[in-house]
Amino acid sequence: MGAAPRTIEGREHRSGEEQIPRRRFLAWLSGVGLVGSALAGVFSTFVFMKPRATYGQPNRFRIGRPEEFPPGARIAIDPKRVCIVREGNKVAAISTTCTHLGCIVAPSSTGFQCPCHGSQFDVDGNVTGGPAPKSLSWFQVTLTPNGELEVDKDNEIQTGTYLSV
Ligand code: FES
Repeated sequence: MGAAPRTIEGREHRSGEEQIPRRRFLAWLSGVGLVGSALAGVFSTFVFMKPRATYGQPNRFRIGRPEEFPPGARIAIDPKRVCIVREGNKVAAISTTCTHLGCIVAPSSTGFQCPCHGSQFDVDGNVTGGPAPKSLSWFQVTLTPNGELEVDKDNEIQTGTYLSV
């Protein structure tokens, strides 16, 4: 019975049979690394190609359930530039963008008031004073299948057109 061969530093000398599996493992590991790098490159290319830019607020958006707007409510949603008006069981969305130079009008006791140059509008958005050249737009409001109100600012409707809820 002899002792295992040892190197000068005292480490165990490995035979050729032990080194082959290690080489295979390293080759496999390299292959996995290359394939992983390639997949990551393809993925990042697709991510890069997809535009990240946004071009302002979407013009179609949900504002909540009808119960959130009690009868008589006139609730301005400034980021969306729209005022939700509820009369009894009817709901409408009126633009809060002033037709003069585009400032945001605010609901007032008589309708809407523009803080920039003093244009005034009645409760339906018709001009009653100031430099605004035309009335405020009304946008289509629909009820989604799950019972939420949805405003479509790409779809202007006739003044006085309400959605029954
Ligand atoms: S922007 Fe409203 S009155 Fe000028």
